[in-house]
Amino acid sequence: MAGKIPTHFIDQLLNRVDIVDVINRRVPLKKAGKEFQACCPFHDEKTPSFTVSPSKQFYHCFGCGAHGSAIGFLMEYDNLGFVEAVEELAQSAGLEVPREGGHEQGPDLRPLYELMENAARFYQHQLKHHAESPAAVDYLKSRGMSGQIAASYGIGFAPPGWDNLTSTLGSDKKTSLERLNKCGLLSESNGKQYDRFRNRIIFPIRDPRGRTIGFGGRVLGDDKPKYLNSPETPLFHKGRELYGLYEARQANREISNLLVVEGYMDVVALAQHNIHNAVATLGTATTHEHLELIFRNCPEVIFCFDGDRAGRDAAWKALNTSLPLMRDGREVRFLFLPQGEDPDTQVRKEGSEAFLRRIEASTPLSEFLLQHLSSQVHMESIDGRAKLAQLAKPHLEKLPKGVFRQMMFERLEELVGLKAGHLDNSPTTPQRKAVNPTPNKPQAPTPIRTAIALLLDHPHLYEVADEVSADWQEWDNPGITILKQLLEIIRTQPTLSKAALIERWRDTDYFAHLNKLAQANYQFDLPGMDQATEFRDALHRLNEQFHKQKRPQLGNIPPSELSEQQLEEIKQRYPGKIQQDENKS
Ligand code: UTP
Ligand code: MN
Repeated sequence: MAGKIPTHFIDQLLNRVDIVDVINRRVPLKKAGKEFQACCPFHDEKTPSFTVSPSKQFYHCFGCGAHGSAIGFLMEYDNLGFVEAVEELAQSAGLEVPREGGHEQGPDLRPLYELMENAARFYQHQLKHHAESPAAVDYLKSRGMSGQIAASYGIGFAPPGWDNLTSTLGSDKKTSLERLNKCGLLSESNGKQYDRFRNRIIFPIRDPRGRTIGFGGRVLGDDKPKYLNSPETPLFHKGRELYGLYEARQANREISNLLVVEGYMDVVALAQHNIHNAVATLGTATTHEHLELIFRNCPEVIFCFDGDRAGRDAAWKALNTSLPLMRDGREVRFLFLPQGEDPDTQVRKEGSEAFLRRIEASTPLSEFLLQHLSSQVHMESIDGRAKLAQLAKPHLEKLPKGVFRQMMFERLEELVGLKAGHLDNSPTTPQRKAVNPTPNKPQAPTPIRTAIALLLDHPHLYEVADEVSADWQEWDNPGITILKQLLEIIRTQPTLSKAALIERWRDTDYFAHLNKLAQANYQFDLPGMDQATEFRDALHRLNEQFHKQKRPQLGNIPPSELSEQQLEEIKQRYPGKIQQDENKS
């Protein structure tokens, strides 16, 4: 188990990322005054009540009550755990997530990353300087690759020979060989280890942060195997990585869609033609994890396949992997190329404009699904249409609840000639996690709630607290503790956003409570309201409440047992009280 993520890092992270960017990448936002709006992704609605505040770094839906920080949003929207959400955000901000308590960190992978980096650099160097490199350069040129594109993908050359890499990076130290082996850079036969990649063009595979985690190597001619890939290593898991994703993120400020292709050369050739949003699965079918990774970067994916039988089969497989991930707002399309072509040959043949037109005209998932199944039955007969309903149902049932699912069932019903509502047995509740569909009733604005809510939204009010008696701070209850801690945090870090402030309580029982307060606070954002006055007022009322509740406590003690100070206090605050009590006894 990894150690806890330190609070200061969460602060730093929420400071660095902009919640507007984070959400906008998943749910397109429109500017509305100082804030941004959209139709809420967490419930069905036609007019936008989902609001994102750049100054507070907080989102809030007036319709269903969903709310939270960028971390909270990712947890809800991408269905991530807290740690995953933090890691995802950190990655997008180019930050490394530190962990507390060194022991529990698991194996230290840094030396392996470093070795992979050195290996990548070694291969790149060989492409320029090795005696045999002209053959490699000529090969790349013959495939239309410019030096610039080769450089941006870090393409290199593993020269012929058994120990070019081993002798350079492995020297004679046992640990180095062990590391080379761990990184999947060695092959072994008869107990002898040697370079895994020999006489091949090298494509470094980078993780989304740009760290080299594996390699693909292509022969220069027609030898077999055509491509050799890194094996599974502690850094490299084929089913999870997408070749070209890092480069796509580098080239685009924002990715609106990703093109999934089959090969390294397809990605690079498309980039060569100014199409910088292609990624390749590494010789495997697209996995659920691939798709999740894609959807974390953009809402739309276009699968690109050869139009032949094998291509169609592969597309059908990708469709089935996609179905459970088809939340509303996401889109999957299929681009079938002419037989025998791949994106590399096609784009080189017809140029980027024609290729982009193909992307534009690609087939939506809905169409491909129904076409594919319809082609297996006789649509003219009742039996055939019944068969279609039977074939399609299990597929459509994989779709998450939502508008898209509903429309797909309606379309199927239309096709087979059934009345609407006959095929989908599941209730058509709004999609995704059960967020309370009615807004949480704002809690009654007690002074403590008012004070906390105001402070969360206007941290600078901590200065006002000094103007008011601090008596309330002696009160021992959870709300007071939170308010005191909040003041304390803001005093030392006045620039923390509301989102970062609330994150401090995530692991406590009060987190839900604070969030509730945080969403109720629009009551205090009414025009003409002076927040400083409201805050001061709340603290005054808090003091009053505190003294009031203290009275009966003091009152329960016979005056004879009260300390002088307590007597004095009571006399001052509640004139007549001691007198009455004394008369009683
Ligand atoms: P292809 O056989 O379609 O090759 O394999 P390609 O990408 O068009 O290659 P070029 O254009 O001839 O250079 C598609 C992908 O399948 C994996 C590689 O990831 C390749 O890019 N593959 C293919 C292998 O891993 N090993 C192989 O021997 C062949
Ligand atoms: Mn090819």
